[in-house]
Amino acid sequence: MKRITTIEEYHTEYAKSVKNPEAFWAEQAADFTWRKPWKEVLEWNFEKAETKWFVGGKLNITENCLDRHLANRGNQTAILWEPNSPLEEARKISYSELHTMVCRMTNVLAQNNIKKGDRVCIYMPMVPELAVTVLACARIGAIHSVVFAGFSAKSLSDRINDSECKMLITADGGFRGNKTTPLKDIADEALLSTPSIETVLVHKRTEQNINWTEGRDKWLHSELAKVDANSVATEMDAEDPLFILYTSGSTGKPKGVVHSTAGYMVYADYTFRNVFQYKEGETFFCTADVGWITGHSYIVYGPLLAGATSLMFEGIPTYPDAGRFWEIIDKHQVNIFYTAPTAIRSLEAAGLDFVKPYKLDSLRVLGSVGEPINEEAWEWYNHNIGKGRCPIVDTWWQTETGGILISPLAGITKTKPSFATLPLPGVQPILVDSDGKEIVGNGVEGNLCIKYPWPSIIRTTYGDHERCFTNYFATYKGLYFTGDGCKRDEDGYYRITGRVDDVLNVSGHRLGTAEIENAIDEHPLVIETAVVGYPHDIKGQGVYAYIICSGEIADEDKLKKEINETVTKIIGPIAKPDKIQLVKGLPKTRSGKIMRRILRKIAENDMANLGDTSTLLDPDVVADIVKGRV
Ligand code: WTA
Repeated sequence: MKRITTIEEYHTEYAKSVKNPEAFWAEQAADFTWRKPWKEVLEWNFEKAETKWFVGGKLNITENCLDRHLANRGNQTAILWEPNSPLEEARKISYSELHTMVCRMTNVLAQNNIKKGDRVCIYMPMVPELAVTVLACARIGAIHSVVFAGFSAKSLSDRINDSECKMLITADGGFRGNKTTPLKDIADEALLSTPSIETVLVHKRTEQNINWTEGRDKWLHSELAKVDANSVATEMDAEDPLFILYTSGSTGKPKGVVHSTAGYMVYADYTFRNVFQYKEGETFFCTADVGWITGHSYIVYGPLLAGATSLMFEGIPTYPDAGRFWEIIDKHQVNIFYTAPTAIRSLEAAGLDFVKPYKLDSLRVLGSVGEPINEEAWEWYNHNIGKGRCPIVDTWWQTETGGILISPLAGITKTKPSFATLPLPGVQPILVDSDGKEIVGNGVEGNLCIKYPWPSIIRTTYGDHERCFTNYFATYKGLYFTGDGCKRDEDGYYRITGRVDDVLNVSGHRLGTAEIENAIDEHPLVIETAVVGYPHDIKGQGVYAYIICSGEIADEDKLKKEINETVTKIIGPIAKPDKIQLVKGLPKTRSGKIMRRILRKIAENDMANLGDTSTLLDPDVVADIVKGRV
């Protein structure tokens, strides 16, 4: 596939992609292995939340990730795995070995009654077998639903039940820093209320003691020993679903974002090669977890489609110390490094002594993803990690977009700290005001929408297409609404300013305020909760919870601890409030709606801009809350 190499070429390609999107994407899709060619490049109707790409085309994405590479790079490392402990040996899995592993795993799925279209839930640590199971699902045509291994039993069972998964693939436990996560125990608890699960495959990692349900639970290594390595990939339709990934919205429970096969494939590959300017033979290190979209698109699919070496890291950035990322970069001679601003800020806070011992001279490109990167963190990253010679790509995108939409092309687009800069070819952003009217020109700010489909746009929310429509296509007629606010400066550069809805971005993790409120409300003493975000030095946003309790609370600290435990149990530790304030009342309108704007201002300590509070049901509550701010 062609790669853009100059800014002039970017502008020409961009113009082509807008003038004739179908011809543009047909050209990008031509180099893949197709079993049957497509009949129509694109059919779409945003008013029904419908998009189809490469209609009628038949393929299997794993033939493009694996089989296609065997002749030319069978011996090249596909997955380079760095374990949690630096004392354990790294694993290098070549394309041909990975192909064999995936084929065997596919046969295990088949032997355990998994068929095309079945949903398989994956709840695993960051080990190569996680990538193998993801690819094996894709090879047999089962829809994978990876659940981040930091989520609680309740979150896991909710996700399993929403898409009625037939199988769960997990591990005995997972290593993270000096802790282990008892994944099988958590899964066992989830499995008490998941009637659709028939089989549980367990990968052995920590060798800790676990409980066993005969007939349901099976060791993965024993199952793998029973099958051979011949597997023919299932022929999939271009629009057959590839995976479901649950993500938080502003209302209700997390929704299952569905991506389909061909469009996702073409876009993951195109963006990987162009944004990072990937060059043959380079090692790419994305620090995300495969439990999030970044891991799906830029640890597994994008790099493997492009035939790159993808570094997969099991551990955390601060174990055994805050130099771990830098040590890994030197050890494996990483060329492209892709991480989140929250990690950059926390490693900056740890101090330069953790950076100094490392050369970092293999690095060529740096990337950032998941939340707005503040100028200060951008400069630190640029200066201390990139040594001023590595372009930084600040990549803006979402679970729903499947791949990067707005980003510099490394070394080609002139960067500006904290700007995601320009849309990629095929992406047509538009800023609108609250009435949906287009804001034209430069030096403006508005709600970020996209007016034309790109190949990896969300296809539906699992089991509830209406929800997909309402969430993304109903706010502004005929447009995909991102939920983000955005500035376009004098140069036409885009700067994402953050969510304009009730979604928080805590350490790059997406959380709905409603979801956290519902979890806190489970505590028996809690009557009502309102959660907002506030600026946090390391996490980007912190969680601030205003809580009304019943009766007098004798021990506030104990209550706060219990609330944290409740949230951990219902969602997971990532959603724990950073600040809890007990209040007597919440600012409500006469119709009973909580005025979050006021609560946000108080949490931000911006009392000068509380705005008009006179229309509240009980204006006095505001003064009380301000007084009790924590
Ligand atoms: C935010 C992660 C600013 C944004 C890939 C978006 C960003 C949400 C950036 C999606 C960026 C992601 N600059 N904000 N470079 N990248 N975001 O679904 O608010 O976990 O809507 O996907 O993260 O989060 P999600």
